[in-house]
Amino acid sequence: MVIGKPLLSAEEIQHKVKELADRITMDYKNKNLLAVGILKGAFMFFSDLVRHIRVPMSIDFIIASSYVKTDTTGEVKVYYDLRADVRDRDVLLVEDIVDTGITLNFIRERVLAKGPASLKVCALLDKKDRRVVDIPIDYRGFIIPNEYVVGYGLDYDDQYRNLPYISIFKKSV
Ligand code: PRP
Repeated sequence: MVIGKPLLSAEEIQHKVKELADRITMDYKNKNLLAVGILKGAFMFFSDLVRHIRVPMSIDFIIASSYVKTDTTGEVKVYYDLRADVRDRDVLLVEDIVDTGITLNFIRERVLAKGPASLKVCALLDKKDRRVVDIPIDYRGFIIPNEYVVGYGLDYDDQYRNLPYISIFKKSV
């Protein structure tokens, strides 16, 4: 297996994260922000993003998964659910990547059913060409090509999440 040269360098990612956090800071003044990281993939993006957001906020997490290696099973399993009460909260779901959209759509519907004051989505990566379910992305980092990517939280078989950059993942033949 080969990790090629970065698709997105650590510097490009950090610049974009700061830009997204600045937009969120502007939009959530006088709101009741609850940022929800969708793990495991979003752990690095989430922690970088929230440290640049400059409004009062609380945080929570959902652990959900639907992929086995490079393929989606189409079925989202939730391993850890929100502890926070979302009523009267302005919820911001934070994802590392929207691919088919199945995961985020499932989680979005699940959180909406709990009656938040508002719900928006922030995703670092948007692999638009693979979309199966249409999902609104309010804060989007990068649109990326239809390639399997790892690093900065994203994995292949739970490996490579610790890389500070994002690379295209190729299986060696
Ligand atoms: C990845 C990623 C997103 C989802 C996107 O999670 O973190 O949550 O896939 O794919 P989709 O748009 O096709 O649903 P994964 O199921 O691999 O679990 P992980 O976050 O633990 O890596």
